[in-house]
Amino acid sequence: MTIAANDKSQQALDDDLFSLSPRHPDSRLEADWLFLFNKLPPDQWFSADYAYKTSGWLKVHTNIRKRQRILTQISEAYIDGEYDWAEYRSQILKRINMHVLKLHQHHGVEDDGFFPKFIRMYPQLQAGFEILGRDHVRLDALLDKLQVQNDTLARSEVEDKALAAQLHQTLVDATDLLSQHLTDEEDLVIPILGLRQG
Ligand SMILES: [Fe+2]
Ligand SMILES: [Fe+2]
Repeated sequence: MTIAANDKSQQALDDDLFSLSPRHPDSRLEADWLFLFNKLPPDQWFSADYAYKTSGWLKVHTNIRKRQRILTQISEAYIDGEYDWAEYRSQILKRINMHVLKLHQHHGVEDDGFFPKFIRMYPQLQAGFEILGRDHVRLDALLDKLQVQNDTLARSEVEDKALAAQLHQTLVDATDLLSQHLTDEEDLVIPILGLRQG
């Protein structure tokens, strides 16, 4: 190994010491895609210099997480016997319709507008945005399943515990995928927004 090469690998090792880890334990973001994340780590996202550019996106995600959590809580309350069938249906039916609609819209805006724009700004992040785009396909399939189950629930005046159990499983699957997707997306997107000029 030449001295120059040795210096370079030492530099790379030093850089590693100061690079941050993505926030999701199973993050799919590769180290090469974190150059912006390391420049603008999560503890700065809400600071005065950046919040006006980053908080809009984060707020939308906070609302998605909140709606997803409320749906799961309602579903658990029914399974635990805290809600009867009528209460469960009155609490969950409209909320699921709204959640599915808003999430489909959110994915559409990202797929058709934001992600292509970010790839034009940073072509080296294309593979990262392709992962997020594939998440949307999987999430949209889960949301379609949830909508079908919800439509059946809307017609089910008579208690159907099997249907409630299936719907609950779809909610759990969506929560898992959303948790990883939203976190990976934020790690990739928020530094782009924060470091963007103007
Ligand atoms: Fe997304
Ligand atoms: Fe998003």
